Amino acid sequence: MDNPSRALSDRLQTDRPHSARVWNYLLGGKDNYPVDAESGDMILQAFPDFAQIARLQRAFLARAVHHLTAEAGIRQFLDIGTGLPTADNTHEVAQRLAPESRVVYVDNDPLVLTHARALLAGTPEGECAYIDADVRDVDTILEQAAKTLDFSRPIGLTMLGIMGQLPDEDGPQAIVERLVAALPSGSYLALSDGTDTSETLNEAIRTYNAHSASSYHLRSPERIAAYFHGLELLDPGVVRTAAWRPEPGQALDDASLGHAASGVGRKP
Ligand SMILES: C[S@@+](CC[C@H](N)C(=O)[O-])C[C@H]1O[C@@H](n2cnc3c(N)ncnc32)[C@H](O)[C@@H]1O
Repeated sequence: MDNPSRALSDRLQTDRPHSARVWNYLLGGKDNYPVDAESGDMILQAFPDFAQIARLQRAFLARAVHHLTAEAGIRQFLDIGTGLPTADNTHEVAQRLAPESRVVYVDNDPLVLTHARALLAGTPEGECAYIDADVRDVDTILEQAAKTLDFSRPIGLTMLGIMGQLPDEDGPQAIVERLVAALPSGSYLALSDGTDTSETLNEAIRTYNAHSASSYHLRSPERIAAYFHGLELLDPGVVRTAAWRPEPGQALDDASLGHAASGVGRKP
């Protein structure tokens, strides 16, 4: 596990690709190093639709947070595996609709930490906080998040593109279950991850893993659906990302559907 107290310069590891920075490159951002761009290009060469998967996941984030704020009345969010700030970060979507919303971000990447200020510039009525922690350190996350969020009131837990960062040995299912167990009834989980449904993508990720500072683990759509165990799934269930409540007129052809699954579930 990366030790957050290590010196920032040590933790940056600019000689090896980091998932937050490769993701930023795929989304067209500038917060990445040549090694991340090289790694992103390597994935794109093998699987040209990968940048689309990244864009679709961000669009799902916006639709899910919009739904939770506007329709479900959620005013508190815990966003784990935040990524580098980009358009429509969780607090921006939520606070646009409900300025009093409180958002806690969690990531273990040192570059995300250095950009955290952009994630903390919320509305005066609301509150944003950033926790430099590893998702496997559930106790620290819950303890720190409780300084900003009221755990007696519903919380929207967003985990997009994060559980795939953990190998099976780290028990990703148990981690999600421990986090959900800490939330009160009426809370929600929004989760999205890449699926192992394309042999070409599986091969591209194997190559990425051989060079990266961490590894990514594509899983079956059934394994991703299992994260919602015990929750009431909102329609249309756990589906390919673009198919989760698409915007009117949004194209749903095979290319746009991509190899990733997403869903939103409510804790009864
Ligand atoms: C693929 S990006 C997704 C970013 C954002 N959620 C999105 O959907 O655009 C994955 C993020 O998870 C973070 N991450 C990876 N492993 C992590 C861990 N063990 N604990 C906390 N964050 C982690 C990375 O630093 C990166 O920012």
